This record gives sequence, structure tokens and C-alpha cells, in this order.
Amino acid sequence: MDAFKYTKGVLSCDGHDIADIADQFGTPTYVYSARAFREHYRALHDAFAALKPRLCYSIKSCHNVHILQTLHECGSSFDAVSIGEVRRALEAGANASDIVFAGVGKTPAEIKAAVDLGVGTFNAESAMELDVIASVANETRKKVRAALRINPDVDAKTHRHTTTGKDENKFGIEIGSSRALFQKHKDDPFLSLVGIHLHIGSPVNTVGPYVEMVTKALELISQLESEGVTIDSINIGGGYGAEYGHQPSATASEYAAAIVPLLQDRGLKVSLEPGRSISANAGILLTRVVYLKQSRTKQFVIVDGSMTDLIRPALYDAYHFIWPVKPSDGAAPTNRTPESRIAGATPVDIVGPVCESSDYLGCNRFIPPVQTGDLLAVYSAGAYGAVMSSQYNSRNRAAEVLVDDNGPRLIRRRETFDDLMACEREV
Ligand code: LLP
Repeated sequence: MDAFKYTKGVLSCDGHDIADIADQFGTPTYVYSARAFREHYRALHDAFAALKPRLCYSIKSCHNVHILQTLHECGSSFDAVSIGEVRRALEAGANASDIVFAGVGKTPAEIKAAVDLGVGTFNAESAMELDVIASVANETRKKVRAALRINPDVDAKTHRHTTTGKDENKFGIEIGSSRALFQKHKDDPFLSLVGIHLHIGSPVNTVGPYVEMVTKALELISQLESEGVTIDSINIGGGYGAEYGHQPSATASEYAAAIVPLLQDRGLKVSLEPGRSISANAGILLTRVVYLKQSRTKQFVIVDGSMTDLIRPALYDAYHFIWPVKPSDGAAPTNRTPESRIAGATPVDIVGPVCESSDYLGCNRFIPPVQTGDLLAVYSAGAYGAVMSSQYNSRNRAAEVLVDDNGPRLIRRRETFDDLMACEREV
């Protein structure tokens, strides 16, 4: 299913005209489809159904509380990486016991706060952190459940900034040293260290790295069992790809076909932490053309959205398909590849107003001719879009709109100059 479709030459989100949404809420604005969030959640859940998986939606990918509510209603648990994300999940109605608190640098204060809130599982990433979790558990005399994040030294074959499972990455604990930690905490009366956590990168577009990672983890679990340590759960992380249009990604059922047989009949509780595969194609960034400009070598389309709204192109050279909301030639795109050409068209760079040459949303794109005032849709922007936005150049963060059964509604108002100044005035 595709939430964003062209009908009679105009882009719509689940039947609602995107141009009307822009008129009502302004630009730049993120527009999300609640239906897409639900369907992507279910696709992954159903694909892994044989394992009775627990899906912990990775809050960091798109953290708006209204979206967390939508996923909570689907039965989702949550992967949080800061006490702020823990609180967001609680605000969305999640039970603390359904929250997994991960992250390489949780502070003692965050750990204490999360224990007090009754957070379900802590994914620990170092020996020192594990000691802090154990001492907070013992001091508060609360039973705390934890998993150890293993660094399996597997190449996820993704961007170097988002590779997390290689030995040189800061994440997790090397398999060899992990055994001593399981032994050390084996008989702790309050800390129950019974899980293995893995996450090797984002996105991981092929199944091979998952197979390698799970195989290594299962070998470790067998070895631990022979040493008297019981492991009852495995969290295989996130990283499942989403279709951006420039390179293929495995589907939910392809990931499951490779991973499920490895874990079936192992008697382990299985969790997944998907973010992007649920949120990326549930959202677009809507932006308006401000000016057109021609240099000797380039044609620029200057829009009101920028790297402060969507930093992925600047940070990772990420590809997001871009197309006019009302194409001047009436042509809906036939696919979302960078190669899609319009006969006779010259390529354009779609750039924002920020004072950086890296401030672009797309380079060398063949789009139908546009004019000042036209709207453009930047696709697959639901994941790591709004959440990574900033106020650089004193820009207000964009509005967010969720299209649900009752139509489009504002779920985050556009920031104002007063929002921007608040922390400086209140001193
Ligand atoms: N679990 C852990 C421990 C993670 O670190 C992440 C993502 C996820 C789950 C969710 O991964 P996903 O299913 O969304 O791929 N800003 C980058 C992506 C950074 C991912 C960080 N960790 C981007 O825009 O591509």
C-alpha cells in the first residue's frame, strides 16, 4: 500500500489533498499517514509471527507523541534511548514495563529515574554501566531486568555513520568479554541479566548480516548455558530497510524468512526494534518553491524547507525522492528512482535557504518544470526527519500533521520566534 498517491494529477495522503494541507498548515510541514504507520507495524509483526515477537518501536526514528499513541494502540512496545524518550512513551500511554531502555551512555541519574518509573528492560552496553544498574537495583531493592548488548563484529554494509556492530564502533560488548559479565552478575538478587541485545546498523538492506549476527549470538547463548548462565530472551534490534527508491531493500517477509528458522524452537523470547521500516514511508516533508535561479552550470530550485528540517541529505548524502505536488505536466511519477528522466528536462538542485552548501534536499533531479509558489513533496521523510531537525540559522522547526480516520490534524504546531527565544529569556 502507498499512503501518498497522485489522483487526477494531485498528490494526496489517504485521500486528502496535500495542497489543501499546505494551505491549511503552511510549509514546511511534515505530513504523516496513521494508516501507513499501522500497516508497516503489522507487516513486520505478521512476518515474524511464528516467533510471537515483541515489536519495540524505535522512538528515535519519529518520536511525536501522537504517533507513539497510534503505535501503542497497535500493541507496540517501545525502544527508548534517553529518559526523554522513556517519558514520551509513558505520555503516549505505554506501560513502563513495555519500555526497553537502550543507549551507550545512560547516566546514573537516568538509570535511577528509569528504575523508579519501573522501566521493563535495560540494554546495558558496558561493564561500568552494568555495575551502575546493579547498584541502583540493589539500593532501591527493585528487581531490574537487563540484557547485554553484544557487539558481534559483523559488517552491516551500510553508511559508516550508521554502522554499529563492528568492533571499532562504540556500541555493545565484544562477545569474548561478555561471558565474564554474565558470570559476574549471575546470582545478583536484584539484577536479572537474562537477555542478549543486538543492533548492527541502520539500514541493513540485506539479510546476510542478520543471519551472521544471530548465528554468533546463538553460539554465545549455548556456551553461556553450558557455563550455568540462563538466557531467556534475544533482542535482534532494528535496521530493517525501507524503500527510498535508489537501492533495493529486503522486505519484511524476506528478513523473516532468513531469521525465523534460526530462532524458532530455541525457546527464547524474541524482540525487534524497528524504526525506519515503520516510519520512513509513513511521512513526507512538504515544502514550497521560493525562488528559481540559474548559474552557468546549475539550475537551482530554492525552497522553504532545508537541512534544518531534513538533515539526512547533508549528513549522509541520503537520497529522498522529490516531486511536485501538482506536476505542471500532470504527470505522476512512474517510480522513485534517481534515474527517472523527464524528456527535455534539465536537472535541478533543490536547495534550502540555510547558509551551508550542504543545505540541499536533492541534487541533479529531473522534475517537471516548477514555479515560485509550487509545492514539492520530499518522500520517505518519516524516519529521522522531524526528530533530527534543528533551529540552526534561527529557523523555527516545521509543523507536523497526521492524517487519520478523521482527516488531517496538527500534531505539532510550527515553532515561533518566542519558542526560539524561551530558554534564553528565562534565565
Ligand atoms: N535499535 C537501536 C539500538 C538503534 O540504535 C537503532 C537506530 C534502532 C534500533 C532503529 O533502527 P531502524 O530500524 O530505524 O533502522 N539517523 C540515521 C539512522 C540512525 C539510526 C540509529 N539507531 C538515518 O537518518 O539514517
